[in-house]
Amino acid sequence: MLHGKHILLGITGSIAAYKAATLCRLLIKEGADVQVVMTPLAKQFITPLTMATLSKRPILVEFFDPENGAWNSHVSLGEWADLYLIAPATANTLAKMACGIADNLLLTTYLSARCPVAVAAAMDLDMYAHTATQENLDTLRRRGVEVIEPDEGELASGLSGKGRMAEPEAIVRAIDGILARSEKKKNLSGKHFLVTAGATIEAIDPVRFISNHSSGKMGYALAGELAARGAEVTLVSGRTALPTPAGVRRVDVLSAEEMYRAALEAFDHADGAVMCAAVADYTPEEVADCKIKKGDGELTIRLRRTKDIAAELGTRKGNRLLVGFALETHDEEANAQSKLEKKHFDFVVLNSLRDAGAGFRGDTNKVTFIDHAGHESLPLMPKSEVAARIVDKIESMIDKKS
Ligand code: CTP
Repeated sequence: MLHGKHILLGITGSIAAYKAATLCRLLIKEGADVQVVMTPLAKQFITPLTMATLSKRPILVEFFDPENGAWNSHVSLGEWADLYLIAPATANTLAKMACGIADNLLLTTYLSARCPVAVAAAMDLDMYAHTATQENLDTLRRRGVEVIEPDEGELASGLSGKGRMAEPEAIVRAIDGILARSEKKKNLSGKHFLVTAGATIEAIDPVRFISNHSSGKMGYALAGELAARGAEVTLVSGRTALPTPAGVRRVDVLSAEEMYRAALEAFDHADGAVMCAAVADYTPEEVADCKIKKGDGELTIRLRRTKDIAAELGTRKGNRLLVGFALETHDEEANAQSKLEKKHFDFVVLNSLRDAGAGFRGDTNKVTFIDHAGHESLPLMPKSEVAARIVDKIESMIDKKS
């Protein structure tokens, strides 16, 4: 995706600025044309000479050259760029971006940019966790800025936690995806989808719970793909370690009961729903207030059934599209067919745990689509590609319904 693309690389005053050198080299290696813009403070962390040599272009810092009055136009920079990547992005710059403050060239360029904008946050763990920073990031996300979340690890302060700028390779992968998405046709604009994803957690006592191996990767890929095609997406998510896909509204829940309530509320305004979550079918009848201490004998925990969210949406769906998943270990097609009928799904995406590379945690999946007209088996492919194929099918079914 990066070949021939114009990437504006904004560097702010963070110790992670040293990684901008590697980032710039990787972008150039992928065939991108890179123009660097720095804040005045960033020059203290990495020299303009280093960045100019790597990017093969003079870097820009000030609004104009005081020697000859030559003007650095933020408007034309914004027009030139196919993508504006600010990496590292400090808490200070993120706050200014959220407020619309324009006191340096990097920020005026942000306000003028018509291209996709991505920020790779970098700061100390407490600054990152601070409500002010998190609210600023949420504001930027709502306005369409793609946030490349920091990694966990050792920080310049000597502390350890979430705040280290993502590695340059990961940033390059992320912007490759952003460019790919920005070129997608927005066939689903004006449509609203609910996606459920991840595993639910059913408390036994304040310490233990019942859950399952779902990583949420398939549901998150789907939510991201729907958003990339212009849909408004509400992602009702069980616990996962995944970052929120760009342009997606995420509602975090824990138990099956919480997921049921959040999903029903979002479905009220939706044109369709994709039920990707691995919802617990049973939950402890009683949750102990205190940690259950071990005794000599055995322990029995009585479980009761949870509500079936998909089945409930199936009874209320009317003309809306409902897509289900079925994860099976045996009699796969028969079980999926029975879920199609019972839960009033328009189609079911079947995974078999017997297929290598399919199912939980991995980055690939092998699925079969089952609808009222028949079956279609897809080969093993990355979950992002499976998500694209599922959304292709959603688009064609929505067209038929309208
Ligand atoms: N599902 C749901 N709410 C539940 C259980 C399942 O919304 N309480 C949804 C899943 O998200 C999936 C579909 O129903 O889209 C099928 O889920 P699955 O766990 O495969 O099947 P179950 O209905 O739980 O049946 P079984 O456990 O007997 O396979």
